[in-house]
Amino acid sequence: MNLTIRLNSNFKLKNPVTVASGTFGYAEEFKDFIDLNLLGAIFTKTITRFPKSGNPPPRLVETSSGMLNAIGLQNEGVEDFVKNKWPYLRKLGPKIIASISAINTEDFVYLARYLEDAGIEAVELNLSCPNVKYAVTCSRKKFIGNGNPIMFAQNAAATYNVIKAVRKKTDLFLITKLSPNVTDITAIARAAESAGTDALSLINTFFAMAIDIHTLRPKLANITGGLSGPAIKPLALRMVYEACRSVKIPVIGMGGIMNAADAVEFMLAGAKAVSIGTANFVNPHIAIDILYGIKKYLKEKRIDNINKIVGKIKLR
Ligand SMILES: Cc1cc2nc3c(=O)[nH]c(=O)nc-3n(C[C@H](O)[C@H](O)[C@H](O)COP(=O)(O)O)c2cc1C
Repeated sequence: MNLTIRLNSNFKLKNPVTVASGTFGYAEEFKDFIDLNLLGAIFTKTITRFPKSGNPPPRLVETSSGMLNAIGLQNEGVEDFVKNKWPYLRKLGPKIIASISAINTEDFVYLARYLEDAGIEAVELNLSCPNVKYAVTCSRKKFIGNGNPIMFAQNAAATYNVIKAVRKKTDLFLITKLSPNVTDITAIARAAESAGTDALSLINTFFAMAIDIHTLRPKLANITGGLSGPAIKPLALRMVYEACRSVKIPVIGMGGIMNAADAVEFMLAGAKAVSIGTANFVNPHIAIDILYGIKKYLKEKRIDNINKIVGKIKLR
């Protein structure tokens, strides 16, 4: 059975199952639970130029069918990543995709070049973290000017500008991560494609909140956070479907994938690969279970090549 997914002529995954940024650390934490080499790709926790302590706790809340988080991109910075995490990651079989985020275009370019110099092949531009205030201010000042707090991925021009700047300075395989917190995902997807991103990943989390009715306080110290998990799956699927129909570049679909059937739905909608996020917190072995489930589905349907299901939704 052929499970290989080609994202472009030089960049292929041995299978379509990947793990989503921020839900799988830097992989080493998971090595006792799962054979990491079976994964199609590993997206690292988002890395910033300098260390970040993230938002104050509480920053994780369980809600009905979903998880609210306001981590705020806690990480040790890019230097630490290259020195302490990359040596382990680089020896693994799956493609390693370093997720990066920055407060401005200059830092995005800096991060991409720094990682390229360290031997990294692919980065994911996280333009869509809902929990970082300073990134919001910066993108507003630089690109929007209407006074509304906004992240890069909420504006087509801001998305275009940052990708274009990184594209000009690196040969990395570039994946751009989009936000669901937009009116028209296709406009942002097309802007990203025309700026030269090699692929899209979507969706990041939805702006959301929860209130404790006894203390009358928001359950998250940050007040709002990002919603992920099964609650968002139908919304994510619709957005992935729309994005896939609006661009030619490959799309990596995610949002609430909990089992193989969910993953197959995203692929039928047009995603070439899928990412498993919140499900990793429930079962650290889930990504491999999903891979086996996809294989079983293909076998039952007598399909010998995974690519034959991509985008094969039948529209009435
Ligand atoms: C606790 C937590 C931390 C996350 N951190 C990041 C992150 O650092 N960078 C990023 O691009 N996405 C981050 N995400 C978003 C996920 O990668 C994914 O896009 C989102 O959760 C939707 O998929 P899911 O419903 O399968 O979790 C995080 C999600 C969770 C739940």
